[in-house]
Amino acid sequence: MNRTVIVSNRLPPLDRDEASAGGLAVGISAALAESGGTWLGWDGQIDCEPDHGSRIQQITPYTIIALALSADEHAGYYIGFANRALWPVLHGRADLVRFDPADFALYRAVNARFAKQLAAAAHDADAVWVHDYHFLCMGEALRRLGIRLPIGFFLHVPFPPADTLAALPCHRNLIGALSAFDLVGFQSENDLRNFCDYATRYLGAAVSEDGTVAVGGRQFSVGVFPIGIDTRGFSALAESKEAGVLRERLRGCFEGQLGVIGVDRLDYTKGLERRFRAFERLLETSPAHFRQAFLLQIAAPSRMAIPEYAALRDRLEALSGRINARHARIDWTPVRYINRTFSQTRLAALYRLSRVGLVTPLRDGMNLVAKEFVAAQSANDPGVLVLSRYAGAAERLSGALLVNPYDIDGMAAAMRRALVMCLEERRERYREMISELRDHDVHGWREDYLRALVAAHRRSLAGG
Ligand code: G6P
Repeated sequence: MNRTVIVSNRLPPLDRDEASAGGLAVGISAALAESGGTWLGWDGQIDCEPDHGSRIQQITPYTIIALALSADEHAGYYIGFANRALWPVLHGRADLVRFDPADFALYRAVNARFAKQLAAAAHDADAVWVHDYHFLCMGEALRRLGIRLPIGFFLHVPFPPADTLAALPCHRNLIGALSAFDLVGFQSENDLRNFCDYATRYLGAAVSEDGTVAVGGRQFSVGVFPIGIDTRGFSALAESKEAGVLRERLRGCFEGQLGVIGVDRLDYTKGLERRFRAFERLLETSPAHFRQAFLLQIAAPSRMAIPEYAALRDRLEALSGRINARHARIDWTPVRYINRTFSQTRLAALYRLSRVGLVTPLRDGMNLVAKEFVAAQSANDPGVLVLSRYAGAAERLSGALLVNPYDIDGMAAAMRRALVMCLEERRERYREMISELRDHDVHGWREDYLRALVAAHRRSLAGG
């Protein structure tokens, strides 16, 4: 199926060197690299003009339709509802939810406005594929416009336990709107279980064994489609001449020490404070690692207009400063904390130089950094992945050292184990993970999802 119209809030990076780690846009853009299609989303601009024009760009292999947001829309839809109400509740942080009905109204209005543009672009399409929590009401809006095509939705972030979600005042309207899609896809079995439990208890839905959900006279399908990365492409990038040159330049910075690397958006779901504390615990309990290891944490600034994010940045700066002040030596800095976005090539080079990849979110839909870290390793001398059991990636990466990101001592112990792990065990774990990543890459993910969407559409026509 080639004529797929995609919508996501973020549009793809224009070239690989602009892209940073993991993330939805990088994932989908790898998925569309072969097939092409049309991709509609926010261009990142805030446009005060009342007429919202769209810019159409041809970025082979796909056509981009870039829409601006007005200042009110940005404040209510993106900052307010999507990122101060939905993001925290979906990640299990009901305590951080700031709900304002006016924001929800703007969220619905932006869904409807984007749906109108999308409907115009979808006239000769085979299917529409809607991505992530910014557009939960998009299916409903498209159906109201008379779109009869297969319309699928994929949630990149977690689906929380039913009672946590119910803390959001508008939860029934919002989740009920998903019934307008033909197929709703999740990252993990856990997300699917939570959804089915929610639909049964709060929407009175009937969920069948085969993944069919009947609610309010409509029928749609649900399923698990764990997103992958462009495994071969990322490995090739890590082995490329360009990454090799960067590696040679960066090698000096490692000075024979073992690098423990973390790469994340600066977000309270990523468990960064506990990660820093766990590294400090490692130093306190294993003096042997003094001068022999360091933590390189890259945290790309994100959503800084939201107070929780700005406060987190302050706390991390204080914490990394305190750890360094306490433990650094004249010739050794234990924590290298960098608040910037890095290109994919540079990250690939850094992953390959590092002995340990530290991915310890408190809750994460999938976490593609975990997968990129593995894909960047050399088969001869691979690094070790230390992975939170609360990341979707943990369901299938059996070669990782799984940790509880709330357990500081446990994480310190896992880092110690990773740092001293023998070559044979590192290779064995790497082999297990890389074959999983090659067998389930982002291209297979797209194909599986779109195939299931067509089948689900047929079922909804027959049943709903
Ligand atoms: C997560 C979300 C994406 C989002 C990305 C970056 O990965 O699942 O939908 O695009 O974060 O966040 P931002 O708010 O900068 O788009």
